[in-house]
Amino acid sequence: MGKQLTVPALRARKRAAGQDPLVMVTAYDAPGARIADEAGVDLILVGDSVAMVVLGYDDTLQVTVEDMAHHVAAVARARPRPLVVGDMPWMSYHLGEADAVTNAAALIRAGAQAVKLEGGRKRVPVVEALVDSEIPVMGHIGLTPQSVHAMGGYRVQGRDHGAADALVEDAVALADAGCFSIVLEGVPDVVAARVTAAVDVPTIGIGAGPACDGQVLVFHDLLGLEDRVTPKFVRRYASLKAEAVAAVSAFADDVRTGRFPSDAESYHLPGEELGASPYGASYGAASA
Ligand code: KIV
Repeated sequence: MGKQLTVPALRARKRAAGQDPLVMVTAYDAPGARIADEAGVDLILVGDSVAMVVLGYDDTLQVTVEDMAHHVAAVARARPRPLVVGDMPWMSYHLGEADAVTNAAALIRAGAQAVKLEGGRKRVPVVEALVDSEIPVMGHIGLTPQSVHAMGGYRVQGRDHGAADALVEDAVALADAGCFSIVLEGVPDVVAARVTAAVDVPTIGIGAGPACDGQVLVFHDLLGLEDRVTPKFVRRYASLKAEAVAAVSAFADDVRTGRFPSDAESYHLPGEELGASPYGASYGAASA
């Protein structure tokens, strides 16, 4: 296992400074964290997307700090090398700075090394309070899924000059407030390029084109575990849902036709005990 990645090291990862692009994926449990770690990613985001891709909700508004802490803790137990970022759920940073610090601390105590929150200039007081409490913060602007109702759906943001200028101002304000990186979601590529050039912290894009300092995808999207919707920005690197359905179908078929379990997949009593009570001393021993 390599060295643990740190916030200061990640903060310096600007491609304009000759650095490699950052790679972030979401993960929500220990197996996912081990996969991300062994694949060599830089950051694991325990995203509130857990609501939709794992917990079956229609949007991200349904998860609580307790839900997020549960999933952060599962990821952290895998002791992954990538930096673990815990997503602050809706309403966990909207009711004042003290409340936000308490909620962020719950994610840090669960094992996150940083938190992420959505929104631009209006989040500056919260970001400053978190940074003052020694909690590293990742910003998230553009298409912010927690604002789904306010946005009128999941819509690409920053499409006109005014909106693009506002995104640049939001990013600069977040960087000045102390964010160590900023997720740019669902914005035109040229706007993402402008934002990326305007800040000295890395931008991490999702549906924001190639000019960002890094890219993030949702674990279940990139692996094809989620196959119901495929947004344009998702590249599927595997079809694990289809493979899983085929594997479970093969198991069902084997059980129904008597091909599972085989003799080799069954435990046996030692020869001399054959005919003895099946509940004898050696029954169930793994070596039998
Ligand atoms: O929750 C999440 O998965 C996210 C990413 C889409 C950036 O916020």
